[in-house]
Amino acid sequence: MNESRFTLDNRLPDDYFTSSLHRDVLHGLSASPRALPPKWFYDKRGSDLFEQITRLPEYYPTRAEQEILTSRAPEIAALSRAATLIELGSGSSRKTRLLLDALTGGGTLRRYAPLDVSAAALEEAGQAICRDYPGLRVTATVADFESELAVSEPSAPSQPSGEPSEERGPRLLAFLGSTIGNFDPGQRAAFYRTLSGALSGDDMLLLGADLVKDPKVLVRAYDDAAGVTAEFNKNVLHVLNRELGADFDPDGFDHVAVWNTEDERIEMRLRARAAQTAKISDLGLTVDFAAGEDLRTEISCKFRRDSLTAELRDNGFTLQQWWTDPAARFALLLATPN
Ligand code: AVJ
Repeated sequence: MNESRFTLDNRLPDDYFTSSLHRDVLHGLSASPRALPPKWFYDKRGSDLFEQITRLPEYYPTRAEQEILTSRAPEIAALSRAATLIELGSGSSRKTRLLLDALTGGGTLRRYAPLDVSAAALEEAGQAICRDYPGLRVTATVADFESELAVSEPSAPSQPSGEPSEERGPRLLAFLGSTIGNFDPGQRAAFYRTLSGALSGDDMLLLGADLVKDPKVLVRAYDDAAGVTAEFNKNVLHVLNRELGADFDPDGFDHVAVWNTEDERIEMRLRARAAQTAKISDLGLTVDFAAGEDLRTEISCKFRRDSLTAELRDNGFTLQQWWTDPAARFALLLATPN
């Protein structure tokens, strides 16, 4: 019964994990300064650690975004009248329920289309949502939205030919959690353009963005007292050790979170406590770290209203609504494609 309302479409090639991990690690560890993309944090343990981060007293973004969603979900439903909610990087879909409740309450929603790189997360969250929202179809897509953004139509011509296209109804594309902050300005521009090209006139983008604030507050959010973020950061070394036969010593590195004033972003780094060498057998690669050398593992850009509005405008979107939590720490915005 549930099964008929749930589909999971795997768009990742079979060798996706291995080949993209190999490419990222070869490229990133040979670069200067050395850097790795943040997506390799998220194996089972990394995803659990991130869930813990979202509950830390210092890590305000998740709670701030939830506050906004809680108060604004009815307006979002009324403004979008969405028939389909597409969610990029849906993960465990916890915040999604606030939107699903409002959109099903508004009576327009027929389909939830989560997109994530983790088939396991989609399977678990998708089935649960199917169970709790009896009228809803859930069409999950396993994909890497960074590289491939053939946005979430359920396999090719979904409507019988001749049927008017407005039958599909407006789509609301949600990209929450300030994951947009993991992209640098060039990557964001390309991302907005792809999205804008994939959306039609009555579709809307719902974007969550963390805001520039006191650097002390920001650094604390990424360097918590309990050390959970440090474990999360070092987890990428465990992933490399397991997946690539590498021999990184996670205790040989310090967790560092720095505020980059010029680029207005938090950078997470792993700093070599002493000179050391890591072998990555599967790549035939040996990497020497000098004492104090940094490996950058994540950028988390923070935003301002004016510049975010401008970068959206320059790349195919018009800002329609801008909401913050009462403390103005985090923004949720609605934009329409031009
Ligand atoms: C999931 C990318 C939004 O940048 O705040 C949390 C990840 N890294 N603590 C963020 C993260 C360290 C998070 N995003």
